[in-house]
Amino acid sequence: MKFSYFNPSRIFYGSDALQKTEELLEENNFSEALVVCGARATKNLPVTMELSKSHACYIDVNPNSPAKQVDEIASAAEGKDCIVAIGGGSVMDAAKAAAALVTNCGKTYDYLDGKEFTKKPLPCICVPTTAGTSSEISRYSVITDERKNQKKALGGEALYSFAAIEDPSLSYGMPPALAASTGLDAFSHCLESIVNVENNPISENNALKAISIISKRLPASVKGDKKARDDVFLGVMFAGLAFDQTGTTAVHKISYAFTLDYGVPHGFACALTLPHIMEENKKSAEEKIKRIESVLGGNVKKKTLELMKSVGAPTSLKEIGVKKEDLAKLASRIDYVECKHDVLPVTRERVARLLERIY
Ligand SMILES: [Fe+2]
Repeated sequence: MKFSYFNPSRIFYGSDALQKTEELLEENNFSEALVVCGARATKNLPVTMELSKSHACYIDVNPNSPAKQVDEIASAAEGKDCIVAIGGGSVMDAAKAAAALVTNCGKTYDYLDGKEFTKKPLPCICVPTTAGTSSEISRYSVITDERKNQKKALGGEALYSFAAIEDPSLSYGMPPALAASTGLDAFSHCLESIVNVENNPISENNALKAISIISKRLPASVKGDKKARDDVFLGVMFAGLAFDQTGTTAVHKISYAFTLDYGVPHGFACALTLPHIMEENKKSAEEKIKRIESVLGGNVKKKTLELMKSVGAPTSLKEIGVKKEDLAKLASRIDYVECKHDVLPVTRERVARLLERIY
């Protein structure tokens, strides 16, 4: 066996996001920050309101982090000491990519086309307000390429945050559907991280811990139980530390078309194929699936479908508005080159059969 482990993001956990962020800014002499947030409740949070009194703000990052907006944030961050991203995955992904863009030249499209970030980014402090994406502790930013109407993950050390301020109380404001979708995103991260060619003992340990917490506590968290929200928030951190090391698999790559073409929230879009792909993966990763099943307490497909139903997630393509005649087009929307971490080959024929089955 051979593996390495690296994650430089500082993690500060506790219900004191504003205080901790202000401390970090002061300790590091970051006197001019750009505060980046989303349109939803995040712009009205005390941490956002307070910081925006003394720092410039970029508000209304759109869902799914469009590349053009990443360019705008990078322009707004020119001359600043750091970026503070307050929000869900789209906000943090866009802010981290913008922070890398400020110090590396060019536009977001250059990097979506294969250019690599070679210089250290502008420091980016991430304050997550949802519990699922783990962008605050991962080396990935998923960006929408408007030219191709595709989502693509940019990856690399330049996309690590300077610090992650993990305040579980910020997740209390999530409406139930958002708690369900983001929680299932994290649950997908765990399973995809284990059943992955890059899986290693450290990432697997984190993923199994996260599976145990999320599978037990997500239903209560979705109903608004604050203790359960705290538990899931912590579980999601473990999930992030797992998939950061391994990347995701076909489950994520297939999900992007469901989100862009049918407006399905990211976590629900991932969950649609998750139980089925995991069941298929038994052919090549029986031992890994057994370890997941021992934590779940039963068959991976059955237990995942139960979890999805218990939080109101769709389980078929019909439910999200896909028409039978659109299945072939959907199968052609997947970036198969990016499915490089799967334990089984991911081909258009295999995905077409899968989409038929989950229709
Ligand atoms: Fe995800």
